[in-house]
Amino acid sequence: MFHMGWFLGTGFGVYNWNGQWSGNAGSDVGRPGLFVDMAVSLERAGFDYMMLEDSSVLPNIYKGTFESSVHDGGTIRFDPVPLVPLLAAATRHIGIIATVATTFYPPFLAARLFSTLDNITEGRVGLNLVTASPHQAAQNYGLDQHVEHDERYLMADEWVRCVKSLWDSWEPDAVVLDEHKGLFADHTKIHTADFEGRWFRSRGPLNTVPGPQRHPVICQAGGSPAGRDFGAAHADTIIAAVRGAAEMKAYRDDISARMIAAGRDPSEAKVLFLIAPVLADTKEEALAKQARQQRAKEENIEAILAGMSYFTSTDFSRYDLDEPFPDLSGNNGHRSTMNDYQRSGTTLREAIMNHTVQESVELVGTPDEVAGRMDEYMVEAGGDGYLVAMPVTRKNITEIADGLAPELRKRGLIRSEYEHPTFRQNLLAY
Ligand SMILES: Cc1cc2nc3c(=O)[nH]c(=O)nc-3n(C[C@H](O)[C@H](O)[C@H](O)COP(=O)(O)O)c2cc1C
Repeated sequence: MFHMGWFLGTGFGVYNWNGQWSGNAGSDVGRPGLFVDMAVSLERAGFDYMMLEDSSVLPNIYKGTFESSVHDGGTIRFDPVPLVPLLAAATRHIGIIATVATTFYPPFLAARLFSTLDNITEGRVGLNLVTASPHQAAQNYGLDQHVEHDERYLMADEWVRCVKSLWDSWEPDAVVLDEHKGLFADHTKIHTADFEGRWFRSRGPLNTVPGPQRHPVICQAGGSPAGRDFGAAHADTIIAAVRGAAEMKAYRDDISARMIAAGRDPSEAKVLFLIAPVLADTKEEALAKQARQQRAKEENIEAILAGMSYFTSTDFSRYDLDEPFPDLSGNNGHRSTMNDYQRSGTTLREAIMNHTVQESVELVGTPDEVAGRMDEYMVEAGGDGYLVAMPVTRKNITEIADGLAPELRKRGLIRSEYEHPTFRQNLLAY
């Protein structure tokens, strides 16, 4: 059996606005309905979690204007955290992960907020920890410049240790609820955290009661060596953007080795690989759909260049599309994503056309065919499951929840029921 999640690539944002099958995407912007429907559908499908990406910047790096950011609405982001209780209220089992930037969120605020959410969701919340980019995001929080890439990960490591020390400030049996004695909690089991680090300090204890998970699930996606070390040390689930079964296997092996070095058992973190299946009633229709998607990409090159500008802090309008791909491997943003573009083609145009961040393996066909391929790839790669990264439309959700998931279940590859009450327990159940 493997685990399944959905990566909402533009978080609580705008999906496929004005496109086919987008429903009321325009007039419903900022409303929870689509995401609530999604949570209900994915729970029906037996998914482990939905992961909501986030950023806190409206970029104007590409051509020095906000035009590309707002033209199709793709960089609009509402804060995903307030959505969490709404999704939880409509469901009973699925895990809900919201993205948190360790560079900007004060540890005490995050520890208290996610302890509260763990209680509200009855143990179904998680945090996707990112170090964030670019400089403009840092400037929104009052910094002059963003912190250097690897240093951000050192800060993130200290940030998590600080947050965990706050989550641990109440011992597991501190809450007594003894009606006879009229005693709510035992003060001798509640301690200050007194965390003293290089970047963060916090006194503690929290003034919240620990939630069912005590430590909400931690997710991580950065693939640079520093990012992998961070994930191996702290994550319960890791998202990998790699290509092909051999790379999937190498990634899982690398994370396992890093986890052992960090004193953890490799089974304590589930590595999920990004996929964007192209599903249709027949193989021919699926191939035609894939060809249409590729043509749409050609028409969308400007938006892709704007996206690359955002995550490297480099204005891509200054490069010729048919010149060799610029070397930006040391950029201060998303290094692993940029390296992945770079190796996808010799020229910028080729790299863009060949690159797919969401596709560890190509999956094109009927739900039955795709389910079979997913099985084969997972056996070969030895990973723990997949993370769907398709645009959030009700049509895509139905294709996955009511087309693909039943085929996976028929093969015994995904759960038919949730065995445990909390997200963490279900994630670590197999
Ligand atoms: C699938 C995926 C999802 C990500 N989600 C976010 C996100 O929500 N917010 C963000 O700021 N960065 C996000 N990132 C970026 C990473 O968390 C990381 O900060 C970035 O890739 C830089 O780290 P790296 O150089 O180790 O790759 C994501 C990356 C990937 C591959």
